[in-house]
Amino acid sequence: MLEIRNIDSYYGESKVIEGLSLTVPDGKIVGLIGRNGVGKSTTLKSIMGIVRTRGGEIIFDGEDISKKPAYERVKLGIGYVPQGRDIFPQMTVQENLDLGLQPVGGKGTIPDYIFELFPILPKFAKRKGGDLSGGQQQQLAVARALAAKPKILILDEPTEGIQPSIINDIGKAIRRVNSELGISVLLVEQYLDFVLKNTDTVNVMEKGRIIYSGITAESDGSEIQRLMTE
Ligand SMILES: Nc1ncnc2c1ncn2[C@@H]1O[C@H](COP(=O)(O)OP(=O)(O)OP(=O)(O)O)[C@@H](O)[C@H]1O
Ligand SMILES: [Mg+2]
Repeated sequence: MLEIRNIDSYYGESKVIEGLSLTVPDGKIVGLIGRNGVGKSTTLKSIMGIVRTRGGEIIFDGEDISKKPAYERVKLGIGYVPQGRDIFPQMTVQENLDLGLQPVGGKGTIPDYIFELFPILPKFAKRKGGDLSGGQQQQLAVARALAAKPKILILDEPTEGIQPSIINDIGKAIRRVNSELGISVLLVEQYLDFVLKNTDTVNVMEKGRIIYSGITAESDGSEIQRLMTE
């Protein structure tokens, strides 16, 4: 379980996250949605240790990880897919995937289920990452994060700039990873329909804090839409 308790995050002296708390229970898919610039990516970077938090705690499997360096958090089982995917365009698909094994010492092989989830990847193994479409690169980035068999997968706007058919595939992959492998998911998005379709709980963020939390199946999409647009 990942439990964020009352964290504050800053860029310089500017406070971007204020008293934010959020829980991702084991086996669940939790959505975090909000407009541009409200602090969604900063929240994820705080969890990963890319942005330092001041105050509060980040508890992962019973341990406060908020002072640990980023690589240790990944090693503990937090898989992260950053916004914009960050794959290496000059490296092949296989080389990009193999980078996902670094948290486990660069040893071992890519688990077979990753190729079942994303059949395009073995097919294009020798192509350069930069030659894939945006949607294929997103699949590669998710696959890379899964390579080290994380306990939780953290995704930052996986549908951004991606064509609808591949958005569907990515949604299916997220649900399969969750239901078949038991990996919990924290999904940051701006695309409300995708969140309503693919999450167990939904949280709406506004200017560094959460202003709405609910069970997705009981949530009123139009209310969330209103909170996001007003
Ligand atoms: N490296 C940085 N230095 C200073 N300010 C930053 C930095 N990164 C983000 N910010 C600011 O922090 C706030 C939150 O940014 P963040 O990227 O977390 O928002 P977001 O919700 O992920 O937005 P988007 O939906 O556009 O990705 C914004 O006001 C942004 O301008
Ligand atoms: Mg962002």
